[in-house]
Amino acid sequence: MSNKTSSPGERIRQLRQELDDHNYRYYVMADPVISDQEYDRLMNELISLEKEYPSYSDPSSPSQRVGSDISREFVQVRHKYPMLSLGNTYSREDLADFDNRVRKTVPGNFEYVCELKYDGVAISLTYIDGVLDKAITRGDGEQGDDVTSNAKTIRSIPLKLRGSGYPSHFEVRGEILLPSEGFERLNRERADRGENLFANPRNAAAGTLKMQNSSLVARRPLDCIVFGILGDNLPFDHHFENLQKAAEWGFKVSKQSRKCADLDEVIEFIEHWRVHRDNLPFDIDGVVVKLNDFSLHRQLGFTAKSPRWAISYKYSAERASTRLVSVTFQVGRTGAVTPVANLEPVLLAGSTVRRASMHNEEQMKLLDIHQGDTVYVEKGGDIIPKIVGVNRLLRQKESSPLSYISVCPACGTRLVRVEGEAKHYCPAINTCPPQILGRIEHYVSRKAMNINMAEATVRLLVEKGLIEDVGDLYSLKEEDLMQLDRFAVKSSQNLVASIEESKTLPWNRLLYALGIRFVGETVAKKVAAAFPSVDKLMEARAEELLAIDEVGDRIAFSIVDYFSRESNRVIIDKLRQAGVNMKQEEGLEDMVEGTLSGKKFVISGTFTRYSRDQLKALIEENGGVNVSAISSNVTYLVGGDGIGPSKLQKAKKLNIPVISEDEFSELINP
Ligand code: IVH
Repeated sequence: MSNKTSSPGERIRQLRQELDDHNYRYYVMADPVISDQEYDRLMNELISLEKEYPSYSDPSSPSQRVGSDISREFVQVRHKYPMLSLGNTYSREDLADFDNRVRKTVPGNFEYVCELKYDGVAISLTYIDGVLDKAITRGDGEQGDDVTSNAKTIRSIPLKLRGSGYPSHFEVRGEILLPSEGFERLNRERADRGENLFANPRNAAAGTLKMQNSSLVARRPLDCIVFGILGDNLPFDHHFENLQKAAEWGFKVSKQSRKCADLDEVIEFIEHWRVHRDNLPFDIDGVVVKLNDFSLHRQLGFTAKSPRWAISYKYSAERASTRLVSVTFQVGRTGAVTPVANLEPVLLAGSTVRRASMHNEEQMKLLDIHQGDTVYVEKGGDIIPKIVGVNRLLRQKESSPLSYISVCPACGTRLVRVEGEAKHYCPAINTCPPQILGRIEHYVSRKAMNINMAEATVRLLVEKGLIEDVGDLYSLKEEDLMQLDRFAVKSSQNLVASIEESKTLPWNRLLYALGIRFVGETVAKKVAAAFPSVDKLMEARAEELLAIDEVGDRIAFSIVDYFSRESNRVIIDKLRQAGVNMKQEEGLEDMVEGTLSGKKFVISGTFTRYSRDQLKALIEENGGVNVSAISSNVTYLVGGDGIGPSKLQKAKKLNIPVISEDEFSELINP
């Protein structure tokens, strides 16, 4: 990425600026835009330039610190032993170099220990006389934040130790992480509340650990895995054996760690987990290789930032490099305008990628993307790939930067950006074609009104002027449809019947189908229960809406704004005239107080009698609650084929009955 023409001083300044930006995004915003590998490359370039040109040294250069997550609200505590980082390697050659370096200093036989490299947040836990004294984040390596009260909410961190033989003062180091299941649940809940999603479990764990209210922390299923122990009078002078002992004292210690006799065994471990890491219940980003014998640690010592007796091997994320053809701006149903990169097709993790998201203006600026750039594409947790970086070495000299647009690409209206939101919106809600189409497509979709209508049909009907909004769907006649090329007698009858059927769906489905910004399925259910008819909801004030569980400012104002618009009131009228159900059915509240009231269910596996969606619906119809993770307040685990082994194990441990779909059926039809 170096710019060959710039002077060393200029390049150093540029790298510092870039690294500072990435540091800020990573540690403060918890929203990185480049991969660790790319970051490491930039950092290595800076370090070697600074070494080569010492006159440019600067105590505040990003190379001078290990990274910082210091936030003002927590008390700062100095680490007794600095929290260093690890040197990174990405290839067997790098590992062989490490092995050779070690062998130069410590000839003869020694053991390695291979461990998973957890992708979470580092923590230091100190214990005095067997009692947890402090939990401190890494901070800048020298001092970190005291997050003891938050850490105490993490169940896998022992508050008092078990067993015996621990030193009166010692420290353990470990990683706080959010297991995949908990992460997915958290993001689902956030999506339903219209909140920004966490980019990955690490950011979610970091964000959670820094929350000011530890009772909120307690609701998130954080975990802590210990990978190091420090102090005087430890039971052994070997890392692996000390950790085994720590497990007896009540710490959660990696079950996957292995002692390895030589580099070949290390590589075997690395290759094993490269393939199997997807089956772990949490994210790892590599493997850490350590020497087992503490006396060799003392012999090898440290560089300024990392120990010479350990190294991390990082699995590179699935990513590819390709050329940017053009950038288009896509308008969604809510009017949000997203920059999308059109790419020369490239194979990535088994599929061909042609398009990738750049999310918003901020991201485009940070990437500093130019016409014809060679870009790196990664598949994250999302299905849509994203651009994570640009290869500036390959940039054409004359290429001009690409910037965000100021008017809607579909209708030419000037875009607006609400303060505090990352996205720009096209405000022409009622005239902007992709918004009109998008709203109708959302309305007919399966989880909304479940009308069996293809996207192409929606477009055709709008183009022909047969419908303008969702209210017009109900005036469609078989004759209207038969005029269209796509339709014959039978297909026209089917579509009209499907539209007719949608009229009887519950009120919460209609509320979701209206496509009010930030009102997802779950929020729609809560709001519909609190305001059991459209008439009541139309009169609701923001303060009343705020009283509903899970409804915050953004959702409340969005609902009030929706019903305050004349055009939306017209649609509601059309739906009313057509006879679409707009209220909670009589007696439904009673029904919800059903045979499963007060009972919580987790569903896992696949079933023959019901689909998972049907099972969930049956649970809710009978007054029960669906949850995604096993905890002590779950009543039943409904298990099918391929039931999740960790769920099963956890249920057994907590004595939660595991029932089949037939047993479930008996519960509701005794
Ligand atoms: S040992 C002297 N072992 O990786 C450093 N670190 O780059 C000793 N990490 O901040 C660290 N899994 O949070 C070690 N099995 C493991 C690890 C691990 C994850 C993290 C740790 C540290 C970073 C080092």
